[in-house]
Amino acid sequence: MTQEGAGGAASGLRAFTVRRGRAEDAAALADVFHSAVHGLASRHYTPEQIAAWCPEAPPPELFRQRVCDGRKLWVAADKADVAAAFIDLEADGHIDMLFCHPRAAEQGVAAALYGQLEAAAQRQGLVQLYVNASEAARGFFERQGFAVERRREVERRGVTLHNYRMVKPLA
Ligand SMILES: CC(C)(COP(=O)(O)OP(=O)(O)OC[C@H]1O[C@@H](n2cnc3c(N)ncnc32)[C@H](O)[C@@H]1OP(=O)(O)O)[C@@H](O)C(=O)NCCC(=O)NCCS
Repeated sequence: MTQEGAGGAASGLRAFTVRRGRAEDAAALADVFHSAVHGLASRHYTPEQIAAWCPEAPPPELFRQRVCDGRKLWVAADKADVAAAFIDLEADGHIDMLFCHPRAAEQGVAAALYGQLEAAAQRQGLVQLYVNASEAARGFFERQGFAVERRREVERRGVTLHNYRMVKPLA
């Protein structure tokens, strides 16, 4: 893993580079989202819940808008510069999205993305980060120092899914 602007390569992870997301990443981000939900989150939710969360790959335009709407978004790009994972940070400290393609999972990619995000949050003076973490991501965020505030039930397309409101104060 190399991390632009952050140095610090972890051995064995050099296949991915963390950089800011661009509008041209939109199609890859849509694929990462769909693949992460169906290939990873599916271990923690029923098929009905997964279908309600992400029935099909969303239109790239949705991600093009998110890259351009003022939030900060980082991608882990492979050697062909194709995004294999991404994370975002909204102005109030909300992490809205963290998704890793199964081909890039369990290699420290999400941790590297999160490291960039937290460093940026510190620089901009945010006092806390928060996320509505899926069951699939709860353990990851606990590993990063987040604590569960409460369990939430959310409805998507008429189906109930749970997630966890998690918070991390920043020093
Ligand atoms: C959650 C997710 C982003 C993690 O991506 P990843 O790149 O595989 O995670 P990493 O390899 O960077 O993991 C970093 C550390 O967190 C741990 N970790 C990751 N997921 C975990 C989980 N579900 N439970 C417990 N620990 C977990 C890893 O074991 C690793 O620990 P280590 O530091 O001791 O080695 C990925 O599984 C994913 O995309 N899930 C489906 C999509 C989803 O639900 N997104 C969240 C929406 S809020």
